[in-house]
Amino acid sequence: MKKLLLIISIFFFTNSIFAQHTIIPAPVSFESTDAMFMLDQQTSLDIKNGNPELLKIVENFQQFLKNGGTNVEIKSVANPDRSNKALILEILKDKDASLGNEGYTLEVKENTVEIAANANGGIFNGLQTLRQMLPRDFESKDYPSGMGMLMGCKIKDYPRFGWRGLMFDDSRHFFGVDAVKEYIDKMAQYKFNVFHWHLTDDEGWRIEIKSLPKLTEIGAWRVERFGRFGDTRPQPKEGEKATYGGFYTQEQIKDVIKYAAERNITIVPEIDIPGHSMAALAAYPELSTLKKPTMVNPGAKFAEWYGDGKFEMLIENTLNPADEKVYDFVNKVMTEVAMLFPGQYIHMGGDESYHGYWERDASVQAFMKKNKIKDTHELQSYFVKRVEKIVSSKGKKLIGWDEILEGGLAPGAAVMSWRGMKGGIEAAKMGVPVVMTPTTYAYIDYTQGDKSVENPIYASLSLEKSFEFEPVPEGVEAKYILGGQANLWTEVIPNLQFAFYMTYPRAFATSEVLWSPLEKKSWDSFINRTESHFYRFDAAKTNISRAVFEPIVTVKKVDEKIMVELSNHVPNTELFYTIDNTYPVNFGNKYTGPFEVPNGNLSLRTQSFRNGQSLGRELIIPYEELVKRAK
Ligand code: ACM
Repeated sequence: MKKLLLIISIFFFTNSIFAQHTIIPAPVSFESTDAMFMLDQQTSLDIKNGNPELLKIVENFQQFLKNGGTNVEIKSVANPDRSNKALILEILKDKDASLGNEGYTLEVKENTVEIAANANGGIFNGLQTLRQMLPRDFESKDYPSGMGMLMGCKIKDYPRFGWRGLMFDDSRHFFGVDAVKEYIDKMAQYKFNVFHWHLTDDEGWRIEIKSLPKLTEIGAWRVERFGRFGDTRPQPKEGEKATYGGFYTQEQIKDVIKYAAERNITIVPEIDIPGHSMAALAAYPELSTLKKPTMVNPGAKFAEWYGDGKFEMLIENTLNPADEKVYDFVNKVMTEVAMLFPGQYIHMGGDESYHGYWERDASVQAFMKKNKIKDTHELQSYFVKRVEKIVSSKGKKLIGWDEILEGGLAPGAAVMSWRGMKGGIEAAKMGVPVVMTPTTYAYIDYTQGDKSVENPIYASLSLEKSFEFEPVPEGVEAKYILGGQANLWTEVIPNLQFAFYMTYPRAFATSEVLWSPLEKKSWDSFINRTESHFYRFDAAKTNISRAVFEPIVTVKKVDEKIMVELSNHVPNTELFYTIDNTYPVNFGNKYTGPFEVPNGNLSLRTQSFRNGQSLGRELIIPYEELVKRAK
């Protein structure tokens, strides 16, 4: 046993020389000390100044330790005996203003590990830091370690922003309670605190509204289709049975809300109106202008896209803002949503609402004339203002995508800037609270690796680019920026493991941007820490993308020659390639500079290595594809 301890100590000692810590997001301050603490069966979890909610948080941590093979007892203590081996969790009676509600201090000493915070959120976050300091085997149910050595340190930590979110689209694919909980559990480990739940869209309505039962009887179900979303999938056939889908009952929603709250996460529900409403209109066609019966869209072609955000809807998917029935509908929905979700915000979507059907409808035109509404942007604004009144009458605040700025923003509303930062800048300059979530840095449905190995979608976003995200643009007062989030749209994400693959590691970057001090931002430090989390995900059997290791292939046409440059941004890696249809090996052709790929029936094949071990996937890109990519 002693020998084992010695080996473990040497391992951790040498490790600590090279990497001070591997915590994501990086803490505000971290100082190593000479102490060493062994967390094992003799450790107890001592709570000072606790409360029932804190007990639940600690029980969850106890369960995590148990999964890691360590059974520890929870005790409530008035005066912790610091000579006993214990993990002491203390809610401070004398508040430390610099920590806020989510900050904490954590100290690993010889006999104790001590986490102190003003509030439960801080203790929760401190426990997540502690979790990341334990050996990765703690994440594995197959190889419980039974004990974990912790190196001495003093941490003080608190978030840069109060809104640190991930958006999860549960409409384009339906995931179900267990999957949503697993997703929430993982994001909480990285100190996200907002789960923006996209519950309605053209492809499915996912929340039970008791006063509008058809929303889920009809709107939650579609015919099952495979193939490319919005492109090659066949339209539903007349009378075809809708078999794919599902929805959350209100009891299930309450259960998920409670689960999230135990993990310091507030859920912001999104009811996407007036556009993106095909599923609602399949249930209640009378809320559209054409009032034509339709089916929930299975991802069959529904729009023509003209670039630059311009599009035409081939099927009506907007509510009719000139019809009073629509506001009765919104009122019923928001009444139940507001009753269910305890958070202060309700998201009304408001994005990409197509105005063509409004422009072509005589009653809408007459309504606009009567109410002196000069164009459909003002009409959308009229709609948003009515929705804002409904939402605020339920004691909630409205937030919507940046289109809600068009034609004049409703007083009291907050804006989520997605079409770049400009909507957010405009709103912040008007003194409106903003959540930044621009496509350029935060759309984690975009591909992250080379196109040749990713599930196709129309844009890409590398880990490096996600890390460049800065939510406070120049010239904007930081106090109006609530924070930011990354958005996971699921048109091409059919299952939870792929959702994890798309989310991580880019969400590490988002989490670090939103939590850690800007002046400490460092790609080299971040990528080193990210690598250690790959192994934690492996141990937890959770999918994560290693695309960042893979070569970045840049193709140029120089004097009619196809020239290729390879690069990547991970230290200590070497790139190897072939252009003769053989597979690249690490004692073969090492990349040292741009090379020509000759015309022929061949592919560029390239792979990253470190110390002889391959990293990430091999890329195989046919010559014709290189020609297409050549600039
Ligand atoms: C959005 O991506 N349509 C908000």
